[in-house]
Amino acid sequence: MTLIKTIQELQKALAPAHAAGKTIGLVPTMGALHEGHLSLIRRAHAENDLCVVSVFVNPTQFNNAEDLQKYPRTLDADLALVGDLADIVFAPSAEEVYRIPATEHYDFGPVEQVMEGPARPGHFNGVGIIVKRLFDWVDPTRAYFGEKDYQQVAVVKTLVRQCGLKLEIIPCPIVREASGLALSSRNQRLTADQRATAANIYRILKESRDLQTTDTQKIIAFVAREIEKYDLFKLEYYQIVDGETLQPIADLTAAPTAVGCIAVWADNVRLIDNIRYK
Ligand code: PAF
Repeated sequence: MTLIKTIQELQKALAPAHAAGKTIGLVPTMGALHEGHLSLIRRAHAENDLCVVSVFVNPTQFNNAEDLQKYPRTLDADLALVGDLADIVFAPSAEEVYRIPATEHYDFGPVEQVMEGPARPGHFNGVGIIVKRLFDWVDPTRAYFGEKDYQQVAVVKTLVRQCGLKLEIIPCPIVREASGLALSSRNQRLTADQRATAANIYRILKESRDLQTTDTQKIIAFVAREIEKYDLFKLEYYQIVDGETLQPIADLTAAPTAVGCIAVWADNVRLIDNIRYK
């Protein structure tokens, strides 16, 4: 694996692969890598001639200065974890990425107007900016994204469609701790006790699937009630949406796929997760 820090070096390193028509799998990350990222990286490695992992804590997608400042930065550990699963780890500085200022403005339409969109103003524009730039620099055949960020996957698919890009977006299943807690770099900021309590988020979501109703308001009320039983948690939202359009549905029968998406504050750490109802 080669560590590359500049766009020029990256493009020089990828030029022979492009010229030879090789396939390139890109895994965009913000580092603090865990088993969830590794599942994406293993897949990109297995399905492509070349695997590129980007590690960049992207300031333009943070709408909360404290979250950006506290986001774990662990490049040495990340490189050790990736090892030879990647051919290239691209870890640029913010100066390198934003030498051209971030003036792009994306409008992803309805998929960004729900859940994380209103909760984190500007977030998806920042995601769009960095992901599009990475796509331009790497020109991958496939790019891999975790389904924990369910809405992000929908936004990235919209970006690809709107920009007429030819790459394939590969959504990858959520990886969980044995407790059920969805793996996230932000989990590092929880104490051991908080982490144990946080496992209840997925337990509650799973139990909500066993309710004998298709009325989403009733399911949402159940989840809210159960979450609020824990002093640690503050529910930001729980919504049940059409799995494709991400628009809220009143009844599980109203769409071919239905996904429940949650954002919960555990003290000052924001956790998200989701579950498929159908
Ligand atoms: O999911 C993430 O870690 C980030 O949003 C991404 C896709 C790497 C863009 O910075």
